[in-house]
Amino acid sequence: TDEHVPMSNLEKNKYINYKRMEDNLKVVRDRLNHPLSLAEKIVYGHLDNAREQDLVRGKSYLKLRPDRVACQDATAQMALLQFDATGLPGVAVPTTVHCDHLIEAQIEGVKDLARAIDANKEVYDFLATCTAKYDVGFWKPGSGIIHQIVLENYAFPGGLMIGTDSHTPNAGGLGMVAIGVGGADAVDVMADIPWELKCPNIIGIKLTGKMNGWTSAKDVILRVADILTVKGGTGAIVEYFGPGVESISATGMGTICNMGAEIGATTSLFPYNRRMADYLKATKRGYIADYADKFAYNLTPDAGAKYDRVIEIDLNTLEPALNGPFTPDLRTPISKLGEVAKAKSWPNEIKVGLIGSCTNSSYEDMSRAADLVQQAVAAGLPLKSKFLITPGSEQIRATIARDGFTKTFEDAGATVLANACGPCIGQWDRQDIKKGEKNTIVTSYNRNFTGRNDANPQTHCFVTSPELVTAMAFSGRLDFNPLTDTIPTPSGEAFQFKPPAGLDLPTKGYDPGVNTYQAPPADRSKVNIVIDPKSKRLQLLHTFKPWTGKDFHDMPILIKAKGKCTTDHISMAGPWLKFRGHLDNISNNMLIGAINAENNQANSVYNCITGEFGAVPDTARAYKAKGLPWVVIADENYGEGSSREHAALEVRHLGGVAVITKSFARIHETNLKKQGMLPLTFKNAADYDRIQPRDKVSLIGLTELKEGSTVTLQVKPAAGGDAFEIPLQHTFNEGQIGWFQAGSALNLMAKSAGS
Ligand code: F3S
Repeated sequence: TDEHVPMSNLEKNKYINYKRMEDNLKVVRDRLNHPLSLAEKIVYGHLDNAREQDLVRGKSYLKLRPDRVACQDATAQMALLQFDATGLPGVAVPTTVHCDHLIEAQIEGVKDLARAIDANKEVYDFLATCTAKYDVGFWKPGSGIIHQIVLENYAFPGGLMIGTDSHTPNAGGLGMVAIGVGGADAVDVMADIPWELKCPNIIGIKLTGKMNGWTSAKDVILRVADILTVKGGTGAIVEYFGPGVESISATGMGTICNMGAEIGATTSLFPYNRRMADYLKATKRGYIADYADKFAYNLTPDAGAKYDRVIEIDLNTLEPALNGPFTPDLRTPISKLGEVAKAKSWPNEIKVGLIGSCTNSSYEDMSRAADLVQQAVAAGLPLKSKFLITPGSEQIRATIARDGFTKTFEDAGATVLANACGPCIGQWDRQDIKKGEKNTIVTSYNRNFTGRNDANPQTHCFVTSPELVTAMAFSGRLDFNPLTDTIPTPSGEAFQFKPPAGLDLPTKGYDPGVNTYQAPPADRSKVNIVIDPKSKRLQLLHTFKPWTGKDFHDMPILIKAKGKCTTDHISMAGPWLKFRGHLDNISNNMLIGAINAENNQANSVYNCITGEFGAVPDTARAYKAKGLPWVVIADENYGEGSSREHAALEVRHLGGVAVITKSFARIHETNLKKQGMLPLTFKNAADYDRIQPRDKVSLIGLTELKEGSTVTLQVKPAAGGDAFEIPLQHTFNEGQIGWFQAGSALNLMAKSAGS
């Protein structure tokens, strides 16, 4: 295992570390003494300290050392700004940034890309220069969707990757544990801080039989979502195994893992096999397949591996299906769709069929779709629905153009969009219907929550295989089953589709297309990060000040929040997303959704300086301007929802020092700690009621802060009367106390790197 095998063709000097995996697993096998699943092998193989870490599934928190980081352009902005503020010279772990989320579909690929490059110029310029400075690979707009580029270039069997996008698990198609995280986690790993993951449960999915006919990889995950529902994978890695696996292509396995995000799974994973080796060879990484062959005993599960639950799916009898509308776990087999749609009043007419995206734009998907288009066109049939294609990468775009599929699609009247997320993430300037009009679309994407694609809550979106989307676009109706039904041709015959035929890999090899990759320069010392000082979307970050070393006295309570306070209440999304790279501007949304216990209103709090009510961010700014630190008091499960780091950064930026709650959502609690904040909880939850919004509070005991210590909240009632004390708890460990003292986790990291 001790060889120097590059991780990718683009990073010849960064090597696959199977040796660490082997060494860790020796220790772990001795400790656990039971056969290991593949998920356990890869996760434990990346432990920071295999000897001492607790390894209880579903309980322990593991400290891991990922092999790679991948960021998309929306989430990369704040991650890179934070990294820049550390003063570190470059990333500690191979990292790439991908421009895919900011390209809006409107006309067709070439024009849409040109418009996006113009509209997002300042963001792209920043990303291009910041990545160059910190040794990060940069994939320019037009290169394709992050998950496709990762599969084509970076994923490898047995690797551990984190990515700042929820469909990062796509790389499980090449046997990698790939997990979607927030920007704060990405920046930690880039700065060499071990990454924490709750030791996952493992759901085993045994595939028997063989993929055949109309059934596609997508149908496997549509069925899994049906069984497990949108919550069923929470806290678990979904591991596929069994004799059916080999009948699925590597890209098909990628599709299955990609959409595993829809059941809330930590990630999904396939064991190393011949189909993966074939794909590695086709993408010019045969040397990785050779290395993986030698290490295959650790890239597949042990016989007798224990799963927390096992589900069996027989591919021989798996019927193609569509999931939706409005939720990805509502499955209807194609043979029942007409009748169910009628009963539920889903609009029968299909307005638009969309194929491609990060989920389903492989060569195999495109060749099978092109085969169906050819069959229909040869019979003289026109498309009945609009038909849009999103190639997942420049390599796919160029290869399907060379092999004639694009011509087949376009001659039939389809539109090829840019190599980007486009309608999959709602970047779709849809013109064919009015907002609010009830209508149906079918896509080969992964998500179909209300409004996801076109911001129209009345769009009924069904997710399915590209094959079904394509065939159904020729009938334009939900009650058409291409497996059994016919369509009348212009000459009066009854046309029936034959099952789709295609190739999983191009016989002539992949055409790489236009080179859209920017490698970091050898000499990075001269690179200047480009940010226009007048920019409204980007702003350099300043490091937060270290703790003064003293307790905080007589602070105002900015808000005593009542009821639910999710990361959306703390830092709203929607129109604020465009300020993700500008901390000061996005801070104008801080806590504007939280309900003030004093008046039951959102975004209206008492300002103790003026004696008037004002907006939450304005009031915080007024306190900050006077050098007055403040706290937030809140209810249960504060910060639930997402890992959005802005929800912690904003509170710190506008001068908050502590958030005191009945309880925290764990990820947000950690994010607060990372930004140098004090997340504290009431020892007795009922003490929440003893505090009034206009009281003044002091935090006592910070100089003695240690693991398990108590912090005292001294409350001076605004209504007069004696001050009283409330005991508070915290979950800081020794290392995290260092974050608070240094002003943030990154400050501490930069300090220790510099000393
Ligand atoms: Fe995500 Fe779709 Fe892009 S699921 S990465 S938005 S193509």
